[in-house]
Amino acid sequence: MNITQILVNHMHEPIGFQLNDLRIEFKLAATKFVKITKQLTIWTTDQTTPVYQTDQLPYDNNYFDVNLTLNPRTRYFVQVTINTPSETTSAKTFFETGKLNESFTADWIGNADKNIQNTLFKKEISLDKAIKSARFYVTGLGLYEAYLDNQKIGDEYLAPGITAYDHLVQIQTYDVTANLTIGNHELMISTADGWYKGRYGFDGGQDKIYGDQQMTIGELHITYTDGTTVIINTDSSWQTTAGNITKSAIYYGEDLDDTLQPSAWQYVTVLKQSKTILQDRLSLPLTINEQLPVQKILTTPANEQVLDFGQNQAGWLEFYNREPKGTKITFQMGEILQKGNFYRGNLRDARATFDYISDGKEKWVRPHFTYYGYRYVKVSGNTNPLKLADYHACVIHSKMSKTGDITTDNTKVNRLFTNILWSQKSNFFDVPTDCPQRDERLGWTGDADIFSNTAAFNMDVFEFFKKYMQDVAIEQNRFDGMVPMYAPAMGTTDGGAAVWGDAATVIPWNMYTTYGDTAILKQNYATMNAWVDWITKNSKTANLWTGTFQFGDWIALDGENPALPTGKTDEDFIASVYYYYSSQIVADTAKILGHVSDQTRYQHQANAILSAIQHEYITATGRLAVDTQTAYALALYFELVPEVQIKRVLHDLVTRLNKDNDHLKTGFVGTPFICQVLSKYGEHKLATKIFLQEDFPSWLYAVNMGATTVWERWNSVETDGSMNPDGMNSLNHYSIGAIMEWGYKYVVGIKQHAAGFKTFTFAPNFDYRLKHIAAHFDTAYGDFKVNYQIEADCKHTIQIKLTIPFGTTVQVELPRADNVTVTINNQSKLGGDFQLTAGSYNISYIPTMNYIEHYTADTPAAEIMADSVLVNKISAIDNVLDFFKNDPNAVKGGLGNMSLTKLNSLLPFINIPANNLATINQLLINTPLLSEREG
Ligand code: BGC
Repeated sequence: MNITQILVNHMHEPIGFQLNDLRIEFKLAATKFVKITKQLTIWTTDQTTPVYQTDQLPYDNNYFDVNLTLNPRTRYFVQVTINTPSETTSAKTFFETGKLNESFTADWIGNADKNIQNTLFKKEISLDKAIKSARFYVTGLGLYEAYLDNQKIGDEYLAPGITAYDHLVQIQTYDVTANLTIGNHELMISTADGWYKGRYGFDGGQDKIYGDQQMTIGELHITYTDGTTVIINTDSSWQTTAGNITKSAIYYGEDLDDTLQPSAWQYVTVLKQSKTILQDRLSLPLTINEQLPVQKILTTPANEQVLDFGQNQAGWLEFYNREPKGTKITFQMGEILQKGNFYRGNLRDARATFDYISDGKEKWVRPHFTYYGYRYVKVSGNTNPLKLADYHACVIHSKMSKTGDITTDNTKVNRLFTNILWSQKSNFFDVPTDCPQRDERLGWTGDADIFSNTAAFNMDVFEFFKKYMQDVAIEQNRFDGMVPMYAPAMGTTDGGAAVWGDAATVIPWNMYTTYGDTAILKQNYATMNAWVDWITKNSKTANLWTGTFQFGDWIALDGENPALPTGKTDEDFIASVYYYYSSQIVADTAKILGHVSDQTRYQHQANAILSAIQHEYITATGRLAVDTQTAYALALYFELVPEVQIKRVLHDLVTRLNKDNDHLKTGFVGTPFICQVLSKYGEHKLATKIFLQEDFPSWLYAVNMGATTVWERWNSVETDGSMNPDGMNSLNHYSIGAIMEWGYKYVVGIKQHAAGFKTFTFAPNFDYRLKHIAAHFDTAYGDFKVNYQIEADCKHTIQIKLTIPFGTTVQVELPRADNVTVTINNQSKLGGDFQLTAGSYNISYIPTMNYIEHYTADTPAAEIMADSVLVNKISAIDNVLDFFKNDPNAVKGGLGNMSLTKLNSLLPFINIPANNLATINQLLINTPLLSEREG
């Protein structure tokens, strides 16, 4: 048995992070489950007497919740020991605290000239003894980079990240032991405006949202080998001047002039900025996680030089400078070409440019305090021809490990899933932004709410959302429980919309259920309560949520007013459903945290809302007052109707979809759920059909149009390749990528789970159109791997390989396996329902019915007409199809939705003789669907 990983508050060896509600979690690798015990020991630096030790505890989960008062600036060594009946095994890790509540002896320092775009601060230091350890506790406003002897400290960028800076500024802790030796050194901090002071925010943004002056504060703590210590503080002895960045802001981009030589150093001004807003960091670092090479250098019809990275993404461009001194080279970023030419109309007011003036030195150059969302870069001003190898795209996002993946035998589906991951990477930028390119890039609550489950399958996002929920809570406190539209709210006061505001309850809940850590519930309990109480106070109708501003089913296609993206689904219905859901989450959370009276109160409230919704929106026989895809999806997903009416609602949803030609009309609200409810209630085939549609509106439409990330709108790009002219049109918006949750749950089969995935159900839905799936999800216990295949033999043997991590129990529920012999690692058993624990399994069985679906007598004429082989065969029997061949519009119109039998009974001139009809129906039953035929 091996301990393969130990995490501290879901992080690997964290230094300087806030570590309240300390949890040490570990993963074990073993070929099968055996009874074990677990023990945790924690030491501080001396490693002799533990500061914390548990007994050898029976293993009933993979973590320890540690109740230990931590000291500031202290390294803690952690050991997990496992005893099996035959061996003892252990592994170690560490974590280190930051300054905790210790106040800063250093001062905030600034330059008297507030207009400097890039303020430098420096201090010469001299060390005369050997160094044992050194830590730099530092931050800056708006953004900073710290340097020791001209070497950048640490591998993170755009620190200290984005927060409501009037309330909270995060401190980073850097281990600089290796950078310091006896002798002289120069400590330097470079600052810029960033989110704090540069133009930023909704509707083009504002300048100076949080302040009008760049500043920094830092303490360098050095311990010498002789045990003595010294602290080098930012204070009046530091010097300051302007750096080479002549303008920089998030939307603006950056102007960097390397012909400038920082000079005229003068002493800093000590500022009176609050130090109580300083806090150890929560933000994961923004790091360069990949570098992409240029795929092609294009010369466009308009004679522009354009670099094509082949992938839309976020970060910045780095290039090798070969330009003579004084040359100004300009890089403009864009997401798409139009008629082959560079285009950036959809960036709105974001200048998104990097201007560089060369000092004539050959070197790699990059921007420092901005970022871009782009695939294409237009280059101008260069005097040397562009060379592929001189450019790469540095992909920047919050550092998170990848935890999940789905690969299928359909390359377009694979591209879609890759696009979803790319949009997640591009937008998990310290906060979950809506998009990375235009003048917005805000931490929109609704987008994060609907995507959070997909996000947590794809990457380890616990700490990321923990920080974001703190951003939400800070704003909510200002507004008496109202959740802002985005967090940080950047000075705006709007908010309180359903789904968007429900991020306050849904995100902590989703993180709890995925990672099984109640800390996130505890930390957000007050805000979760405050949010539902805010709805109660502000709604105009008791037990429903009505009468406040709503976004509706944002970007849905069924809106009556095409100018409004809010869709047709009654916004008060959506709001009331989320009022119910959030109240239920609060009741469940109260139960978990042991707040008994709250539990009773919120459960009562949830019940009352559910009754009110049923009374207002659902008839006694289960007819929904709102006939939209999203309304049915919500009714089924949130179980708004009694069990006996589920069939009716499902039927009405299927009818609605059929009327909509089995294509989506959903927006942000319905999109995550529509396929999930279809698959959950037995309509997986229809879910798969909708999922695999390739024409507008569908997920694969964008893939066919060359998308490399998820678009904001179903028709962000029109069929002729032109950009939808609407001003709100990003090509890198993860929201409708929430479909991937359906992929993990219903295609891969990771269906239901207990919090933290200690137990879960594996219940794949097989479909011949996605007959080979290889997927994995790295749960808190370890990697769960699935590889299944529907064999091409006539019996459609199902082959499944599973790898189950130690500590979990998987309830397997195989479809079409009733009373069937199932082979599991060469042993036979009857039926497809059984439990498995840690290990690798080869499972196979012959399903009761094979998975190739055939046409039927009810198949709509339009579907038949799309299958030319079938059309020829029918034509050989009867001329029934001539009518459609002559009038293709009849197929597209309502008639195409009817079966041949139905048409025959309705339209006398079609007139299929009874025996021909019987032969045609037999032919249909014998013919596999076009989408499911081999080859
Ligand atoms: C954003 C969205 C957001 C929406 C809300 C847009 O501008 O990009 O993703 O949720 O506004 O209205």
